[in-house]
Amino acid sequence: MAEELIIPQETDKKARYEALLPQIEALTMGEEDLIANLSNIAAALRYGMGYFWVGFYLVKAHDMLVLGPFQGPIACTRIPKGRGVCGTAFAEKKVILVEDVEAFPGHIACSSDSKSEIVLPALKDGEVALILDVDSDKLGDFDAVDEAYLSKVMKLIEKML
Ligand code: SME
Repeated sequence: MAEELIIPQETDKKARYEALLPQIEALTMGEEDLIANLSNIAAALRYGMGYFWVGFYLVKAHDMLVLGPFQGPIACTRIPKGRGVCGTAFAEKKVILVEDVEAFPGHIACSSDSKSEIVLPALKDGEVALILDVDSDKLGDFDAVDEAYLSKVMKLIEKML
């Protein structure tokens, strides 16, 4: 595996993802442990893209999302299916992009510094196995470019499930 992350210096978001994605593939290639891989993916995205909080919630018993590997400030440990942005992405099995978290009904504020977020599910056998949550301390920080590249990361993760 790659020993060190080369932080993309480009200001253009697409170019940063382009530089980061092969590194994420190299980081996880040859390692079969899911938690180890999710841990490095969270760190690579947090430091590579500079977002405020990057982490995973894993689906556990009783339709509960439980905090997994993450980078950033401490966060809520459990989110029920259907609650907040993460719980909604889980319930609806779809990507949710929120430009202003205050405007999202039922948003769970783990940190008052979080202003916008994107949440993507990873599916195994047609069911959500985990979700990726990326939070920004800026309003409207996520767009179709994030969705496209983070979806590629989720496809990579789905191969590990
Ligand atoms: N804001 C999320 C909760 C998770 S944290 O922000 C890390 C939500 O509404 O689901």
